[in-house]
Amino acid sequence: VKPDRKKKRGVNAKAPAPVAAPAEQPRLTAEQMAAQQRDISVAEFFTKNRHLLGFDNPSRALLTTVKEAVDNALDACEEAGYLPEVVVGIEQKSETRFVVSVEDNGPGIVHGQIPNIFGKLLYGSKFHRLRQARGQQGIGISAAALYAQLTTGKSIAITSRTARSRPAHHFEIFIDTAKNEPVTTKDEQVRWDHDHGTRVELELEARYVKGEKGVDAYLRQTALANPHVTLRYRPPGVSNGEMVVYERATRQPPPDPKEIKPHPYGVELGMLIKILQGSKARRVKAALQQEFSRVSARIAAEICTKAGIPESADPRRIARQQAEALFAAIQNTKIMAPPADCVVPIGETQLVKALEANVKAEFAAAVTRPPAVYRGNPFVVEAGIAYGIEGYPPEEAADVLRFANRVPLLYQPGACAITKAVVTTDWRNYNLPQTKNAPPTAPMLIMVHIGSVWVPFTSEAKEAVAHYPEIIKEIKLALQECGRRLMTHLNKRAHAEYEAKRRSIFELYIEELSRSLDELTGCGKEKVRAKLRALAAQMTKKGEI
Ligand SMILES: Nc1ncnc2c1ncn2[C@@H]1O[C@H](COP(=O)(O)OP(=O)(O)OP(=O)(O)O)[C@@H](O)[C@H]1O
Ligand SMILES: [Mg+2]
Repeated sequence: VKPDRKKKRGVNAKAPAPVAAPAEQPRLTAEQMAAQQRDISVAEFFTKNRHLLGFDNPSRALLTTVKEAVDNALDACEEAGYLPEVVVGIEQKSETRFVVSVEDNGPGIVHGQIPNIFGKLLYGSKFHRLRQARGQQGIGISAAALYAQLTTGKSIAITSRTARSRPAHHFEIFIDTAKNEPVTTKDEQVRWDHDHGTRVELELEARYVKGEKGVDAYLRQTALANPHVTLRYRPPGVSNGEMVVYERATRQPPPDPKEIKPHPYGVELGMLIKILQGSKARRVKAALQQEFSRVSARIAAEICTKAGIPESADPRRIARQQAEALFAAIQNTKIMAPPADCVVPIGETQLVKALEANVKAEFAAAVTRPPAVYRGNPFVVEAGIAYGIEGYPPEEAADVLRFANRVPLLYQPGACAITKAVVTTDWRNYNLPQTKNAPPTAPMLIMVHIGSVWVPFTSEAKEAVAHYPEIIKEIKLALQECGRRLMTHLNKRAHAEYEAKRRSIFELYIEELSRSLDELTGCGKEKVRAKLRALAAQMTKKGEI
């Protein structure tokens, strides 16, 4: 070590080399620079930044493709009121090439909408509303189509039918990345043995991996969080007859989540101005009532008075300064929290069932919290734990499964609020060992679900939930309650074990005593044993021993 140090010191001691004078750089005019300015199409942007959408390596690309198509299939079925039946197929074409197909029994897609849905990024039905759904951005399936096109040069193929009385349509669509517009290369009527539904097929460069970040894990966990869904899955190299089938555990679909309007506490100033300008109401008071959740006539009047704005003012003409006053008035007015029926949890009973179906555990519990609000958006958190799992090594940290709007999140655990809440919960309070910044060390599975009208994901890939303090707090409260229930169970178990041990000691003495007494007095071993047992039971009951 020493000579090295010396050498380093020697180098550092040298005088710094003289800085060369910068070469004369030709100056550009503002006009020359202006010539370089251009619009950037969103498709071009995501071609360069595909990692933002979850396509940064071949195995993740396969998972993201399946995930986007399955999420859409489930959303469509549930929204239209069909019990979802989804068939997923992965076929290996060559070492690095796969064909993914996803088929649903949903409402189908009307002919005229198909090109934009699959061939245009940022086009969808879910972005502009506040309703709990798996998709929210309008980018998922077209991003998968873009990736497929980029890596194999093949178009996305769609077959869809809206009713038995209507023909099925088959489309092949490319994305014109420079314009972010669909290019339809095939649009024809076909025979299809489904009355309604959609089938999507993409060929892409990918890698099929098993394990906790693969498609198999994603589908297994999807079945876990969606017990009303039947999923059929054909992994690569498997014939139709050997498909993996997750049969639905219940025919009861989850309640339909209600769409809500934005809550005033969650809107920022710019948004407030935009909403007021877009309102059809003629008076600002009516606009507040119509455009926001939980604003009654009385609350709207109170906001106007506090802002010093006449109730009859034209919302579209509210000057910027007035909007600021309105914004401040909103913050100073007591407004009821958003309604709870817009968020739908999986439910405690269902969560416990799901955990028990997945692992063989000594104890399982689940807790659903009452709905809460972050940035004006309602959300609900629930947590489930399974403890004492067969085959889980006790010296390893617990497994954590994360879900958002019933979708398993497999990537970026480190960036997720759920992980943060799990590792910052003090599990030692519940007699579980824990190392710093880790889940408890126990043969245990922890499952956390957040349901919200708008899940704050950290990126467009929708893999990690942002660290909103309100969300972390709710998750921790749910985990703590699970921890308490586990501790009660463990205490009961320890007590029962202690009792059993004590009883076995008594049994030993009773045996010994009845034998000796019989030997001494000849009063009969069986008789004495029975008497002593009765006496011991009586004393135990009274708490004397
Ligand atoms: N299988 C399907 N059946 C019916 N409609 C569908 C189906 N797949 C997609 N859609 C429609 O196409 C739209 C666009 O889908 P896409 O996945 O691109 O965006 P999204 O689901 O709205 O949001 P996200 O980007 O978060 O997934 C959806 O909003 C939905 O209306
Ligand atoms: Mg989607």
